[in-house]
Amino acid sequence: MGIAIVFSFLAPVTWAQSPAPKIRAEEDGLALTPPMGWYPWNEFGQEPQNEKLIKEIADGLIRSGMKDAGYAYVGPDEGICFARGADGKLTTNLARYPSGLRGLGDYIHQRGLKYALYTDAGTRTCSKAMPGTKEHESEDMAAFAKWRADYVKIDWCNTEGQVPSQAYTRLGEAQLAAGRPIVFSLCSWGEGEPWKWAAAVGHLWRTTGDICEPGKADWAKAMKNTAENEKLYAAAGPGHWNDPDMLITGMERLSEAQNRSFFSLWCMMASPLMAGNNLLKMTASTIQILTNREAIAINQDPLGIQGRIVRRDGQAEIWAGKRLFDGSQAVLVFNSGSTPAEVHVTWPDIGSVDSAPLYVRNLWTHRTTGPQRGGIAVTVPPSDAAMLRISKSSAFPLPPVILADSYWLSFHAPGPGPQKLAGAITVKTPGSNELPLWKVRSGLPSWLSVAVAKHGKSQTLANAVSTAGLAKGRYHAVVRADNIEPVSGQPMSALYYDVDLEVGSGETH
Ligand code: GLA
Repeated sequence: MGIAIVFSFLAPVTWAQSPAPKIRAEEDGLALTPPMGWYPWNEFGQEPQNEKLIKEIADGLIRSGMKDAGYAYVGPDEGICFARGADGKLTTNLARYPSGLRGLGDYIHQRGLKYALYTDAGTRTCSKAMPGTKEHESEDMAAFAKWRADYVKIDWCNTEGQVPSQAYTRLGEAQLAAGRPIVFSLCSWGEGEPWKWAAAVGHLWRTTGDICEPGKADWAKAMKNTAENEKLYAAAGPGHWNDPDMLITGMERLSEAQNRSFFSLWCMMASPLMAGNNLLKMTASTIQILTNREAIAINQDPLGIQGRIVRRDGQAEIWAGKRLFDGSQAVLVFNSGSTPAEVHVTWPDIGSVDSAPLYVRNLWTHRTTGPQRGGIAVTVPPSDAAMLRISKSSAFPLPPVILADSYWLSFHAPGPGPQKLAGAITVKTPGSNELPLWKVRSGLPSWLSVAVAKHGKSQTLANAVSTAGLAKGRYHAVVRADNIEPVSGQPMSALYYDVDLEVGSGETH
């Protein structure tokens, strides 16, 4: 008997039929706040990337509290994951990933995390250990969809003669045609000035060279990337982010002050927060920095504004220009020098007047002062940063972060007789405000229905499967739900999960 395979119910969007959207994320609702997760390259390089490591890291994200703080995307970088077969299609390197790349994705999805993979726009990846996508764009994007990736980083090695805007546009089209919603991460290190065109193609683009060699955090390079990325603030917004590279917070060679100021800068620049340290041996201080919800709230603010330097005072930089969803403002005083900096932040620095009575929340000490007029004086130790939130009100609400207990439901009906099966996805959205009900997109396949119920900040998406009329076979759907953040009125990143149904023949062996 034939096997019926129903892929995503989402109709693939092809740009051939309609004019290119100006911002891709407006269609797919992905990465409307900067993606958060973990990638292996900064700490590990190519070795020892394998299934065991990625699974341990996925577990580490949960154990450390990072998942609960919002870190979701995880997977191998250039970890020798696949090869190209004689038929042109990608096959998993089973020596390193014995469960297959789909199996690794299932492991990640089951735990309420999202699956990130890596490839290259050229003929080979950087170390030449893996094939690149050139001339294989469709097959490769189909493979990433089949493996159920939610995020793909596409590097720029071995691209002689290729033009970034053209190559990435081709890949973006191939990815849309593959029919799976995927966060598309361009990695041309700023080549081709992606901030000018890539919002139509993907969700984030590297603006700089690599922040470090694997295993060697490099403060000077981090400062260079910061300076280059800062200038591009106007290009960032919900669903389209400047990416000055993965985090180095928690790697060896950095002081606690550097870890804190680096993380503060990435929060202030609305940069993707892809941790790059070894999560299996983190100090308490690193965990505390990486999971500081008040700092993350600046990064994950639904308005998606990238802060910038508004004034310099000696070796100190005053970063502002980052209005937040509740009308408050984020301010960062970063001391790049080697002696303490005493800085007076004025209310005009944040676009207000000195006579305004304002509250100041220190996001590292978690203390609120005020209301006060005329600004605030801060002393910042060398290489450290003071991150503040300044507001007319003392409330300082936190925006929601989406947390799911799972992104995968798998149903099995032993025979074709009509059966009813059920399973739920629970979604928490810690933050100060309750969200309205998640709204499930229409277009579910006939065998699936989803009902949403709210219990305060937690909601369940109850999935009811009915096999009536279905032949033996495998069925698959991707469910999308949408929400609006109630204070800012901004759409939240869409919530997607996979549902599988297998209907057996009813025969017993
Ligand atoms: C490039 C990227 C890095 C990493 C390596 C892998 O250098 O910029 O982030 O992916 O390739 O080889």
